[in-house]
Amino acid sequence: MSASRRTLIAGNWKMNGKSADGVALGAGVAEKMKAAGGTAAFDMLVCPPFTLISKVGEAIAGSGVMLGGQDCHGAESGAHTGDTSAAMLKDLGCDCVIVGHSERRTNHKETDEQVLAKANAAHANGLIAVICIGETEAERDAGKTLDVNGTQVDGSVPATSTAKNTVIAYEPVWAIGTGRTPTNEEVQEVHAFIRAELAKKVGAEEAGAMRILYGGSMKPGNAKDLIALQDVDGGLIGGASLSVDDFWAIGEASS
Ligand code: PGA
Repeated sequence: MSASRRTLIAGNWKMNGKSADGVALGAGVAEKMKAAGGTAAFDMLVCPPFTLISKVGEAIAGSGVMLGGQDCHGAESGAHTGDTSAAMLKDLGCDCVIVGHSERRTNHKETDEQVLAKANAAHANGLIAVICIGETEAERDAGKTLDVNGTQVDGSVPATSTAKNTVIAYEPVWAIGTGRTPTNEEVQEVHAFIRAELAKKVGAEEAGAMRILYGGSMKPGNAKDLIALQDVDGGLIGGASLSVDDFWAIGEASS
């Protein structure tokens, strides 16, 4: 957390919820934001599954809570059965899109090259790209954490990225959904390293202003200490973003 970067609390709902659940969750978060009178000291983003984006968009309209997709294709349109373009997300009112989540990299064998194309597609369509990177447990155990994250920054982040159109999410794969997290010192070390690598890619000024979120088992109980770290500018939250109270509590803990 730094006075010059506004904290972002982002919820990744993953493949959870039917219409009524999504609307209730979106409306609940929007209510909290409205009750804060637009004075919340942090930005909030919800990323529902594709099927719920329209309905959740209506539920949060006018609240200041941002809307995002969980993935997009790198192409503008075409023969890509089952995929969704950045233009389609923009058309639904999205502000942001998550790209390169480790569940996409692992389950769909997405490469840095593909993630880069997705981030470029997001930018071309006026969306903020939330670009995810992070090492596996085996890579951490082998002492390769910084190497892996450096390679992913280099391969997945467009050189034309700015602090306005890009957010980085550092998510150690072994911390996602496991209840385990690195120590605060380990998190800060990786975030500072990522910022230095970003500076090589996009220049020191943009890198200094770019938000780097931590993700992986962030909960109301550990959010305060994590977000207080110098180079941690918020969180990408999975499990705890499915509860209005927990998600809001993470926001409050950050401010
Ligand atoms: P988690 O997921 O908060 O459930 O660990 C984080 C993520 O995958 O973005």
